[in-house]
Parts: sequence; structure tokens; C-alpha cells
Amino acid sequence: MAAINSGLTAYDKLIARLPTEPKTWLVTGVAGFIGSNLLETLLKLNQNVVGMDNFATGFQHNLDEVSKLVTLEQWQRFKFIQGDIRNLEDCVQAVQGVDFVLHQAALGSVPRSIADPISTNATNISGFLNMLVASRDANICRFVYAASSSTYGDHPALPKVEGVIGNPMSPYAVTKLVNELYASVFAKTYGFKTIGLRYFNVFGKRQNPNGAYAAVIPKWASAMMLNEPVWINGDGETSRDFCFVENAIQANLLAATTDNVDAIDQVYNIAVSDRTTLNQLFESIKNILRPNFSHLNDYAQIYREFRVGDVRHSQADISKAKNLLGYQPSHHIEQGLVESMDWYVKNIKKL
Ligand SMILES: NC(=O)c1ccc[n+]([C@@H]2O[C@H](COP(=O)([O-])OP(=O)(O)OC[C@H]3O[C@@H](n4cnc5c(N)ncnc54)[C@H](O)[C@@H]3O)[C@@H](O)[C@H]2O)c1
Repeated sequence: MAAINSGLTAYDKLIARLPTEPKTWLVTGVAGFIGSNLLETLLKLNQNVVGMDNFATGFQHNLDEVSKLVTLEQWQRFKFIQGDIRNLEDCVQAVQGVDFVLHQAALGSVPRSIADPISTNATNISGFLNMLVASRDANICRFVYAASSSTYGDHPALPKVEGVIGNPMSPYAVTKLVNELYASVFAKTYGFKTIGLRYFNVFGKRQNPNGAYAAVIPKWASAMMLNEPVWINGDGETSRDFCFVENAIQANLLAATTDNVDAIDQVYNIAVSDRTTLNQLFESIKNILRPNFSHLNDYAQIYREFRVGDVRHSQADISKAKNLLGYQPSHHIEQGLVESMDWYVKNIKKL
């Protein structure tokens, strides 16, 4: 499938928007999936990047891969701090001299938060508050943070519109809602400029396929390649608005650099506004991988019980991000899957 936009790509538009002089960006969670993709893009745009991570769920090999994808000069614009957002001093150190914060560090995963709500709370709420306080005190120009579609909770309306949310269905969802509340209070109380991006099931290269809390796309891709079973929770008709990581990167850079005053102190859905069922997703990944893995000619999914805390359907209305930020997703799920599978086929044995 062709990219959604023809003509000027989202990447071209972003380059045109960036300040001519390099700025300094702090990416927290830089060794993780989205963080390392942000790092790669920013360095390729000749920006200065400070990255912080405690390697809770991120990996040195993600940073090593980025170092090979940029020039030596670009890599020298990167400074890594092994630090923990639960520690205010680490946050204070990280924000020194920074213009924009892209706050990604958190413990993801609904099931992880159900198994261990205290750890999720400590990182996602106390750590978030530390980052807000440190950034406020350092007079950061803009604080962009990873919010989540889990904030829609049990509200049944589709597509999801930013102002209409339900009750959280997991400790993780509580933490992401609290992030939005804190950001809004910091705007009102201190005049601090934040933008929250409610990501909807982001996927792409460097997303970890391993472990109990892996996301569905890398987990299934890995299982299919290694001829291990793929389990579908429920009947497979659960649906999601899967969002390729380049769309999320675009949203971060637009949010950080927008000069539209109406766009600030807001939260935005970041997705494509498509809906794909798990059954459709299974077939798509299998079809992309099949030419390289002959065992997939005779390969079927296994169904099991629905998972506690999962919402049934999710689809974003993205008109707010389009109108206020100029967001225009560059990749539909199919094109994103093709690019992602290309990476997983090359890297699966190393992960
Ligand atoms: N991937 C998605 O589909 C999705 C959807 C909604 C929201 N989000 C949010 O996006 C952000 C990035 O998610 P991701 O998918 O890249 O996950 P990830 O687990 O790959 O990345 C998170 C990074 O944060 C780091 N981290 C965790 N705790 C930390 C701490 N206390 N101090 C410093 N670093 C810490 C981890 O080591 C990891 O590198 C998270 O805030 C997540 O909640 C992701």
C-alpha cells in the first residue's frame, strides 16, 4: 500500500518546521521502543538530544542500533544519562539546558499494572510529577508527554473523541489519566506549557517482542517466525486503531514546535482512525511473513479467554490533532506492518 500522503511527506513538513538552529531535546525512556525511534529521527534532523533511561524495559541494543543509523557527527550530538525518573535529582540533571521535553519513560502494559500496581504508580505518577517539577523549574519551552488511549476506559463511544472519557479499567489507565490531570493543573497553576499525546497501540521497529508484557504485534510476529503458538485473547473480534511509530514521532515533533496557542495545554488522539480486529491483524502479519517462512502455509491461531482490563474496541477520532497540530498520519497499518516485519525478519534472532 502506498503512503497515505502523496507529494510533500510528513517528514519534509517537519524539517521545514524545525528551528534552523539545532535545539536540545530531552527524550526520557530513550532506550525503549518509541524513545529510541524519537532519538533516531531527532539525530537525523541534526538536533541535540539528551536521553535518560534506567533500562527497566529499554535496552542498550536499541541505542547501539541508532548509533549505526546516524553519522558519527550526529551521534556525538547525543548525551545519555542512565537515570531514573523516580529520582527528582536525576530529572533535574537531565533537563539542564534543554528546550523541549519528550517524556516517554513509563512502565507500560495493562497486565503489568494489574500484577504490580505499586511499581506502575511509582514510575508513571511519581516519576511523571518529578519530570514536570524539574521541567517547570528549568523553564522548558514545551513538555510533550506520552498519554494513552487507555484513558477512554469503559466509555463505549466510537470513535473516541478527546473530551469524552469513561472510567479507567486498570491501574495503568489510572496513571495515564493522572498524568493528564497533573499536566492540566501545571498549566493552570504555573502557566507551564504541556501537550499530551494519547497514543493508540503504537507499533514498529525496536518494539520488544519478548516477555510476559510484550505488545501484540511484535509478540505475534516473533511467534510466527519461530513457529511458536499465537494466542488470541477472546474471539478475535476485539479491535484496535494500530498506529505506526512514524505517525507518533510526527505528532511529538509537531506538538513540541507548534506556535498555535490554541494547540497548547491540550491532549490529542494519536492514531490513524482505522479499526483492525485481532483476527484481521493475525492474517495480515501471516501474509506478510509467509513468503519468508514456509511453515506459515499451515499455521493457525489458538483462541483463549478474554483478558481482564482489556477494552473491547478502540478507534480514534484524529480531527483535533489534524486541525490544531497539522498532524497527518503518513502510514496506514498495512504499510507500517510491511516496514516493521522487514525489521523483525532481519533482527528476530538478535532479540
Ligand atoms: N507502545 C504503545 O502502544 C503505547 C500506547 C500508549 C502509550 N504508550 C506510552 O508511550 C511511552 C513509551 O512506550 P514504549 O512503547 O516505547 O515502551 P518501552 O517500555 O519500550 O519504553 C519505555 C522506556 O521507559 C524506560 N523507563 C521505565 N521506567 C523508567 C524510570 N523509572 N526511569 C527512567 N526510565 C524508565 C524503560 O526502560 C523504557 O526504555 C510510555 O509512556 C507508554 O506508557 C505507549
